[in-house]
Amino acid sequence: MGKDKLRRFAEVNTFSNVLQLDAGKPFKGCWNTGFFKNANPVVLELACGKGEYTVNLARLFPDKNFVGIDYKGNRIWRGAKTALEDGVNNVGFLRIQIETLLDYFAPGEVDEIWITFPDPQPQVSREKKRLTSSRFLDKYKLLLKPGGFINLKTDNDGFHAYTAEKISEIGLNLHVKTEDLYHSEFADEVLSIKTYYEKKYLKENKNINYLKFSFD
Ligand SMILES: C[S@@+](CC[C@H](N)C(=O)[O-])C[C@H]1O[C@@H](n2cnc3c(N)ncnc32)[C@H](O)[C@@H]1O
Repeated sequence: MGKDKLRRFAEVNTFSNVLQLDAGKPFKGCWNTGFFKNANPVVLELACGKGEYTVNLARLFPDKNFVGIDYKGNRIWRGAKTALEDGVNNVGFLRIQIETLLDYFAPGEVDEIWITFPDPQPQVSREKKRLTSSRFLDKYKLLLKPGGFINLKTDNDGFHAYTAEKISEIGLNLHVKTEDLYHSEFADEVLSIKTYYEKKYLKENKNINYLKFSFD
């Protein structure tokens, strides 16, 4: 492992806005009172990587709380450090496997979910690993407050189509669907936040897909 990566792994352990594994469990059901110390809505970014959505949404919406979730500590390090340096206090990062979300958040504790450029897992044998497979959607349904939105941005047309099919198969409410966000009417300030991977895909001239849906 490179020196820089090792340094980040060590440093991320010391950040007050990063919770690793078991350290995040005591906040289940009390992210507001226990972690953020306010009553504001709690929004999750799943597969957050370097946490661009988490930090930039937090800047745009100081009256909401944002938790970025990923298992890679060296990536979370970037977003957590930026939030600490810039005094963006309505941000936390949780270093866990997304599969274990229900150990960290109580039913109805989450207001909105963002899924940003997840690994598409195209092999049929890995369908269960897709972050919009039924196994994950069931968890999100439990965690979200009534009417809570799920937002998905992806460069991967197959993953986008798979999720759109799931939405129609299960009968979820589809609010926005576009295969070319930046040539659509939807590209506002929020949807124009760009992650590390998004910038890479845009350089490759890929189209950006976006879906917004809810369970009720
Ligand atoms: C392609 S990257 C996208 C990162 C970031 N959202 C971006 O757009 O730059 C996918 C991220 O998902 C994370 N990831 C994949 N599966 C995960 C899981 N089951 N639990 C937690 N993180 C996961 C990886 O560590 C990686 O950072």
